[in-house]
Amino acid sequence: MKIQTERLEADPDGIARAARLLRDGRLVAFATETVYGLGADATQGDAVARIYEAKGRPAFNPLIVHVASIDAAQRLVTWSALAQRLAEAFWPGPLTLVLPLKPEAGVSSLVTAGLPTLAVRMPQGAAAQVLLRAADRPIAAPSANPSGRISSVSADHVMAGLGGRIDAVLDAGPCQVGLESTIVAVGEHVQLLRPGGIPQEALEQVLGAPLQQPETGAITSPGQLASHYAPGARVRLNATSATPDEILIGFGPVQSALTLSASGDLREAAARLFAILHEADADGRPIAVAPVPMEGLGQAINDRLRRAAAPRK
Ligand code: TXA
Ligand code: MG
Repeated sequence: MKIQTERLEADPDGIARAARLLRDGRLVAFATETVYGLGADATQGDAVARIYEAKGRPAFNPLIVHVASIDAAQRLVTWSALAQRLAEAFWPGPLTLVLPLKPEAGVSSLVTAGLPTLAVRMPQGAAAQVLLRAADRPIAAPSANPSGRISSVSADHVMAGLGGRIDAVLDAGPCQVGLESTIVAVGEHVQLLRPGGIPQEALEQVLGAPLQQPETGAITSPGQLASHYAPGARVRLNATSATPDEILIGFGPVQSALTLSASGDLREAAARLFAILHEADADGRPIAVAPVPMEGLGQAINDRLRRAAAPRK
């Protein structure tokens, strides 16, 4: 069924309206510093179910819960000294912590897809923070795109992908980081589940120890499904030039009108990645992408590019 999607400005009225919709169990896409999230009240099972419906997302994929403060996170999960150290260093910001779910948290089991753990994060960005405080409840939010497609880094992307399927989008402009959050599981050690907006090196510096790498083969973070973030067209990686029928996405020395960063800046490349993929996808030709080095944010950029290029099921 098609519904009318309201486009809300990120001013006090718009944010108040967005918070009211969320409390009423409706779906509201909102800007975070990473990508737009498709938010719903995590304590209302039917609201969370609407997320899966709107995205066409496989039901086994658990969701990140967004909170306004460390205190709010502590009400949901069993906190630890390691969690505190990471949150103090990186919150608000693009780091998601996976911790044991408290039974009394009141979070719908649809959010965790039945797992005993919960992924929590405190996003940056004035609009997201004011919205979370006004909603005054944990907000489950996957990236605001149809399942398996490119993440949205502007309200226009959200409207193009989910318009008519969600209640509103709170437009706070383009996302600053442009890549999803880094996800770590926090136990006795800290394990990397998904590379993202906080580079591995920065985490290791705060921890004073290397991260445990994800076990190969195990889908510990189902966003790690091989084909994900996929444009409609075929994607070829590590291309130093394009064939006549391809469109080239450049980086650094590999120059193209469409480039992740002409100067080879990884932060700029991360912030532009999904917008550039959207642009290339709209062109319709197969996509060739220049090599991007693996250091710093390059790890997360290459992770997304590999998924964009993976054979489709
Ligand atoms: O930056 C972000 O993280 C964005 C913004 C909106 O916050 N959100 C985002 O959500 O990327 P999503 O749903 O597209 O990706 C969430 C990832 C999935 O790969 C999911 O499997 C993983 O988080 N995840 C959620 N709960 C988990 C848990 N309890 N254990 C392991 N992985 C979990
Ligand atoms: Mg996603």
